[in-house]
Parts: sequence; structure tokens; C-alpha cells
Amino acid sequence: MTGLGDQNRPRLIVDCDPGQDDAVALVVAGHYGELIGITTVGGNAPLADVTRNALLTCQLFGLDVPVYVGQARPLEAEPLHAPEIHGASGFDGPSLPELTKEPEATHAVEYLIETVRSEEGLWLIPIGPATNIATALRRAPDLADRLAGISFMGGSALGGNRTAAAEFNALADPEALAVVLECGAEIRMCGLDLTSQLVVDDALVADIRALTGTEAGRPVNPGAGVVADLFTSYLDRVEAIGGRRIGGLHDPCAVLAATHPELFDMVERPVGVELRGALTRGMTVVDTRFRRSALDTGIPWDDAGVFHPVRHCARLDAGEVRRLVVNALDELGSHARA
Ligand code: BDR
Ligand code: CA
Repeated sequence: MTGLGDQNRPRLIVDCDPGQDDAVALVVAGHYGELIGITTVGGNAPLADVTRNALLTCQLFGLDVPVYVGQARPLEAEPLHAPEIHGASGFDGPSLPELTKEPEATHAVEYLIETVRSEEGLWLIPIGPATNIATALRRAPDLADRLAGISFMGGSALGGNRTAAAEFNALADPEALAVVLECGAEIRMCGLDLTSQLVVDDALVADIRALTGTEAGRPVNPGAGVVADLFTSYLDRVEAIGGRRIGGLHDPCAVLAATHPELFDMVERPVGVELRGALTRGMTVVDTRFRRSALDTGIPWDDAGVFHPVRHCARLDAGEVRRLVVNALDELGSHARA
């Protein structure tokens, strides 16, 4: 069950750096949204790796969606990867099938500009460093007014994960995130304070593995098996770092904040990203003092122009979101086998 009729499915472009949670986000986007394109960006692993992982995800789950290769490097920062979380390939853990799907020839930034200019009302879902989206917005600032919105995974209203202050995607390209925050489109922020409410643990892995099996000698839902293996190796790494087999299921939240906003508490809040601090570069500052929209009160967000109005996704219905995630892996994964 999708919960959305076809005519109500938001049309989405997911900008990603798979990564196990990106892979699940692609499946969720393909099931509950109309996923028209996937763009890849260097992040969790180098660009060639995350592109291969995006293509493999499409292959495993029968997503007939074009994949466009984007920026390998952040706007100004040195490239940052996360082998301690996703492994050096971004997809360490499972044995993977041979890749048969190929990326498109058009560059991701060119694709973003052309597509948003040719169609109003799209959602952009950045779930890696925001480099591609920022590059497109810098080249074509008119894009912001044509979008339904940008729902991103990144930042945090509390502490960070890559540093004490900064979340990985925000730290990997804070200059790009600043461009996104100030672009003028509706922005929905799914930071660590939200995404840590949706957990990956051994119980979730067991539920996903239960979707697999064999029928008449053929594997049922091999994609779910790969995701279960990816999450198992993620939990092994998380346990080695923090001593507990529990982590956040970050990226699907940004997709569902666009497709199922009723499952989220969103509060309009001023948000800025720190570009300079020695201890705080990449930190998102969410001003929780403001409760009412600046549009209603007429009170400006700030005098320095460093904060921007963002719909901060503060809480989610974790039980229902978890059910939707497992359902998407089940329905798309089983369908792909047919
Ligand atoms: C974010 O960083 C990446 O490792 C994940 O894919 C997610 O997008 C969480 O901080
Ligand atoms: Ca990601």
C-alpha cells in the first residue's frame, strides 16, 4: 500500500551519495513519489563509488530512473568521505550483483537546471553534501521560484555526528548548504535531531531480512537482502565506534517529509550554517526561540542576514515512518524480482 494515489505523488529528484541510508531513500522515493531523476554527488564515498551504488540500487529494486553524475568535490572544502560509517566503497558488506545499468551522459547540474526550468512544482531532495544543488542555484537562481520545495537531510538542531557540532552532509559542504538555505524556495530540514528518532537496529534488520527468501528456487526480494546486509555491517561499524548497535536511518526522512508531511511536526524557524568556526564549522544553528512565522509577525529573522526561514522538521511518527520504509522495500523489491 502506498498511501498516495498516483495523482497525489510529488514529483521528485533525489540528489544522493549512497551510502546505505541513501539507498533506502531511493527506494522510498521510487515507491511513494514519482522519482523522475537521481543525481549523484561525492560524499559518503568518492563520486564513482556512490554513482555505482545508486545504479545498483535502481537495478536491485527495479527503479527505471535515469542517474546523472554530478560534482566530485565540494564548492570550496576538501572532499570528505565517511568510510567509518559506510565502508570505503560506500556499500561495504553485502555481495553485490554485476552492474548492468549505466549513468546518463548529461551532467547532473545541467540536468537539474534543464529539468526545473522545463517543469514547475518539482521537489529536490538533497541527502548528501548540497554541492550539486548549490551549483545549479548559483548558475540559475530562477530555479528556486519554480520548485515546490527542497527537503534536505543535513545539519542538526542539537549536536553533530562528524564533529561535536557538525553533521556530515553539512560539514562536507557548508558553503553549498548556505546557498540552499538562502535560495528563497520552501526548505524542509531533516537534521540529526529528527532522523535519530527513526532507528536502525537489529530488530529493523530482522524485519527487512524477513522480506527475503526463495520461491521455486528463485530468490525473493534480493534487494532487501542487500539492504539487510548493508545495515548489519553499518551496525557493526557503529558498535565499534560507540559500543551500541543502534544508528539513525537518516535519508528516507527527507523523502517522506515531502511525500508524507502529515507524519512530521514542522516548525518555521530561522536556520543558519556556520562557515568559519574553528570548532563549529558546518554546524547548523536552529533558532528555537521563534515560534511564529516572520511573515505573520513582521519581525525580521535577523539583522545580519545569516538566518533563513526553514521548516524545521522537529518530530516524526516513528512507528508509521518505519512501517512505510519496510513496506517500500517489500513492495518494490518483490516487484523487481518478477
Ligand atoms: C548523513 O551523512 C551520511 O553518512 C548519511 O548518508 C546521511 O546522509 C547523516 O549524517
Ligand atoms: Ca546521504
